Amino acid sequence: MKIETTVKDVRKTVKEWRKEGLTVGLVPTMGYLHEGHQSLIKKAVEQCDKVVVSIFVNPMQFGPTEDLASYPRDLEKDSELCEKTGADLIFHPEPEEMYQEGFCSFVDMTGLTQALCGLSRPVHFRGVCTVVSKLFHIVQPDKAYFGEKDAQQLAVIKRMVKDLNMDIEIVGCPIIREKDGLAKSSRNTYLDEKERSAALILSKSIFLGKKMVEEGERNANVVKQAMTDLIQKEPMAEIDYVEIVDQNTMQSIEEIKGDILCAIAVGINHKARLIDNFMMTV
Ligand code: PAJ
Repeated sequence: MKIETTVKDVRKTVKEWRKEGLTVGLVPTMGYLHEGHQSLIKKAVEQCDKVVVSIFVNPMQFGPTEDLASYPRDLEKDSELCEKTGADLIFHPEPEEMYQEGFCSFVDMTGLTQALCGLSRPVHFRGVCTVVSKLFHIVQPDKAYFGEKDAQQLAVIKRMVKDLNMDIEIVGCPIIREKDGLAKSSRNTYLDEKERSAALILSKSIFLGKKMVEEGERNANVVKQAMTDLIQKEPMAEIDYVEIVDQNTMQSIEEIKGDILCAIAVGINHKARLIDNFMMTV
């Protein structure tokens, strides 16, 4: 497995693969990889001849008061995980390589990004769309892999690819959880033992909401209220949102019908803002 840090080198490697007629999969990440990321890499290895994992903590998608500086990093451990999972290349650029002096072009989106995480993180999706577009142009993959853990991000990327006619198949992969239910996240490392057990309130409320819908509840407000009540029992938890939206538009719904996304964002002890969700077709 190779590690490359420049756009030029990645282009050269991918060009050689293309000459041999090989297919290419891309797994964009910000590193500090865990089994959630690994499941994406595994899927890519199954479906593509060559797999590129990008590891780049993208400054553009962090707001000024967010955790860019403290975001965890460990390239050595990440490389081991990528190699043992069967990746062929890690692209690990410095911010200066991705955003050269004078950089002033962005990929922006309305609608889908003006809901859920987009409300409390106003610059986030512009940063995500811009960096993912750049990665798509650099690597030119046949397929790219994203987790359902970030359900809004997955919807935004699918929309961007459709709207801008990018010839790339977006593959969504299910949420990977710890044994006790907590969705795996690089940000879980911000939590001490007590905070980590407080964080279980996210998956508990997701499981509660899912059970209510499975058992026939169709009033979104009833489900959201029950989930909110449960989260509020945890003193370390601070709710950003508890929402049920249409998967295609990200707009709030009152009646649970069609392809729905139930998504939550909750702060834990002012240390980590965590997200979780379930999607269902009713
Ligand atoms: P990051 O948070 O590192 O996540 C990289 C990919 O891993 C995303 O597609 C995310 O949904 C997926 N992922 C994370 N935890 C997961 C879990 N528990 N189960 C399944 N998939 C999981 O998302 C980003 O980075 C960035 O925004 C990025 C797309 C790389 C753009 O900078």
